[in-house]
Amino acid sequence: MGGDAKKSGGLRVAVVGLQFGAEFVPIYQAHPDVGQVVVADLDEDQLATVGDRFGVERRMSGLEEVLASSDVDAVHLVTPVTLHGEQTIAALEAGKHVACTIPAALDTEVLRRIVELERATGLTYMMMETAVYTREFLYVQDLVNSGAFGRLAFARAAHLQDMEGWPGYWQGFPPLAHITHALAPVLALTGATARSVHSFGSGRLPEDKRRVYGNPYPVETSIFQLHDVDIAVEVTRSMFEMARSYTESFCLYGDRLGFEWPQLEEERPLLFEMAPLAAGRGRPIEARRIEVPDRADLLPEPIRKFTRSFVYESGDHLSFVQGGGHSGSHPHLVHEFVSAVTEGRPSRIDAATAANWTAAGLAAHQSAMSDGEAVEVPRFDLQPAN
Ligand SMILES: NC(=O)c1ccc[n+]([C@@H]2O[C@H](COP(=O)([O-])OP(=O)(O)OC[C@H]3O[C@@H](n4cnc5c(N)ncnc54)[C@H](O)[C@@H]3O)[C@@H](O)[C@H]2O)c1
Repeated sequence: MGGDAKKSGGLRVAVVGLQFGAEFVPIYQAHPDVGQVVVADLDEDQLATVGDRFGVERRMSGLEEVLASSDVDAVHLVTPVTLHGEQTIAALEAGKHVACTIPAALDTEVLRRIVELERATGLTYMMMETAVYTREFLYVQDLVNSGAFGRLAFARAAHLQDMEGWPGYWQGFPPLAHITHALAPVLALTGATARSVHSFGSGRLPEDKRRVYGNPYPVETSIFQLHDVDIAVEVTRSMFEMARSYTESFCLYGDRLGFEWPQLEEERPLLFEMAPLAAGRGRPIEARRIEVPDRADLLPEPIRKFTRSFVYESGDHLSFVQGGGHSGSHPHLVHEFVSAVTEGRPSRIDAATAANWTAAGLAAHQSAMSDGEAVEVPRFDLQPAN
């Protein structure tokens, strides 16, 4: 499979962190604007396994080697969640374009630095949020843009996933600090940023899980208010102790249409249509299950197949199995990042957008730790239009 015969003049991308990151290697290899793919991991065995599997010639021992190399234009960080912020800053300071998996960072000041560096360097940054390139998101986005929802009324989102047995850095992680799979689709669909948030923790983690992050909660739940859009957004994130199968979901309701994520991932979503009041009490509302189209048509031909096929066909990385390959999002993310870099423009999830989405979760966890007190969400200005 794959191979990395160079396309001269194309972008030279290093994928750093080759567990989930391996998923992106063949997509970059097949992208028509990518000239060379480098793989990097601290773990020699993983580096050899992924390098051999995709026929990658250039292999590096870690991020440091990647940043020191003049043969790399852009890095895609798929490293542990605690490293994203500092690694992004190091990569931008080294003059590399950066794509980074979610969340952008775990600290507001680090987010601020990333926004400043993106502006100062003119480099492209993109937070690789799968939830805003799923089939469901792309479908609802078209409906919202056409005005079909009418006046927006309410949104609800959830990311429920049991993280028991996942790598150590997840154990005891503050759930709302990892909120973007749930919140980002709502913010992206409404074009809004979060204004303030009230949250509550739920349940109690055992002592050994509380130590690292000082977080006592296996589950946290929030209600956000937004700037400029008059809806409340309810978001729940669970990581431990909750007997509920995996979902990364959003629901959006207007006064004409409502979209509801299915209760179980293998079911189809619901669309509600509300008609004008004819007679009597309550407007008639029709509910139907819908088939959401695959949007491979938005992609260059060589990477279209990746909306439906996963690298780990054996299904050994749980997040692909649970997310169904994150509903076709991976090649869309790669295409947007590569296009933004080659066109010399900010990506659709540039540093300010990523910082706004990520900071909302940090503020939400702070509220949960303050017994539901209102916390203002810091706002990062959107990139001025060129
Ligand atoms: N839907 C999604 O967007 C989604 C899904 C799965 C995982 N993720 C994110 O992807 C990231 C990685 O997840 P994972 O499950 O693959 O994690 P993991 O801990 O299993 O793997 C991380 C890999 O990064 C390598 N690494 C660490 N530091 C490095 C460095 N300095 N240089 C090179 N390699 C380094 C490790 O050796 C390891 O192979 C996490 O932040 C996770 O949140 C996102």
